[in-house]
Amino acid sequence: MSQGVIHSIKDLIITVEFDEDVAEINEILLVDNKQKTPLLVDSLRPGNIAVCLNLHTDRSLQKAMKVNRTGKDLEIPVGEEMIGRMFNALGEPIDGLAPVDPKLARRSIFKPPSRTNSFEASEPEILETGIKVIDFFTPFVKGRKIGIIGGAGVGKTVLMMELIHNVAASGVGLSFFTGIGERIREGHELYDTLRERKLLSSTCMFFGQMNENPVQRALVGVSAATLAEYFRDDKGKDILFFADNMYRYVQARNEVSTIIDQMPSEGGYEPTIFSDVKTLQDRLSSNEKGSITAIETIYVPADDLSDPAVQMIQHELDSIIVLSRAVAEQGIRPAVDLIHTSSSLLSPDIVGDRHYLLSVQVQSLLQKYESLKGIIAIIGENELSPADRAAYAKSKKLIEYFSQPMSVMEDMNGEKGEQVNREDMLKGIEEIIV
Ligand SMILES: Nc1ncnc2c1ncn2[C@@H]1O[C@H](COP(=O)(O)OP(=O)(O)OP(=O)(O)O)[C@@H](O)[C@H]1O
Ligand SMILES: [Mg+2]
Repeated sequence: MSQGVIHSIKDLIITVEFDEDVAEINEILLVDNKQKTPLLVDSLRPGNIAVCLNLHTDRSLQKAMKVNRTGKDLEIPVGEEMIGRMFNALGEPIDGLAPVDPKLARRSIFKPPSRTNSFEASEPEILETGIKVIDFFTPFVKGRKIGIIGGAGVGKTVLMMELIHNVAASGVGLSFFTGIGERIREGHELYDTLRERKLLSSTCMFFGQMNENPVQRALVGVSAATLAEYFRDDKGKDILFFADNMYRYVQARNEVSTIIDQMPSEGGYEPTIFSDVKTLQDRLSSNEKGSITAIETIYVPADDLSDPAVQMIQHELDSIIVLSRAVAEQGIRPAVDLIHTSSSLLSPDIVGDRHYLLSVQVQSLLQKYESLKGIIAIIGENELSPADRAAYAKSKKLIEYFSQPMSVMEDMNGEKGEQVNREDMLKGIEEIIV
């Protein structure tokens, strides 16, 4: 394989010049130094120049250093040994335990397996979460995608942790957790919690948190998806894939292209970001061998749901749980905005006639409640017709009913967490609205 030399260094962008036989896009190059610094080829420029990303932010690189081709993409190890461990975007362990066996097979993170039969034809299987508001409005269906969306600090991470607590513990299969651009502390807390609850043996964790460079933050979701695909296709596993936070993936991709000098476009996002999001979402899919059920949080900048990136991520989701600051301020937890929360899976063939009909009634009651709130603000509750007053009272009860203490908050607020099975949840709603 040919050798190149470092031609220029600008922030995380390293250009490498080759005489001939230039490297390929997505190839890993290794600098000929002691630590064999890996560079990832992002694009090629005329004159046999490879534009590369400095994956480890190695500041010791200098012009004219020699660089070797590997002929290989960025690859991560795959195998059972990966379970129970914590990795960065390059598949390197970051849990302080033993290095991964170098004999493990490796897989390119850029070459997803070709898609086979779609999973959608098979019988839908509902996974109960024990969280009333989710089980009722956004049923959690195996192999589908669910988004938890909301502004800063409205409870996205807490709700996701509760889902991990309730669903992962029920032994559905293998859980993946991918931290993208969020707090480092949250990753450690999750690791400790899983270890205490002896759930590490069915979990894999990948982190590219806010302390990492944008290249790793942009790659970590794809790396985790690669290992999830391996367990789905080669081991026939059902996988729960949790990602916190998908918006940070968009942001990191954007930062990377800004440093590579691409012109940003719509709403300040770089041109290819939308296809990047779609490619990642498509990889979190199911086939006849196994399933990937994705649960993603989506940060909403400035509480603006019309942000183009937020809209784009939502396109690929089957259910969207919207968390709202206004609801949180009323002390309702989880702070779900019941009007804007929606799911394409709330249909009779998936949840059954009883659940479906109840959901139609509940939604119409909640719509009514919204319009009555405005009227009451002007004329007061006593002026309402008896029917409206009854509808208003029922809606208030419903809203209270969907509030529920979380097990993962027990240590913080001392209130015991609660899980409610689907049957009891439906009964509870029937009792309120009859
Ligand atoms: N269900 C809940 N019950 C009690 N408190 C909660 C709940 N959800 C959130 N909180 C409180 O709100 C805080 C912020 O929640 P969380 O970290 O989940 O927000 P976030 O939406 O993930 O924020 P960010 O956008 O900053 O990541 C928590 O630390 C906790 O104090
Ligand atoms: Mg969070």
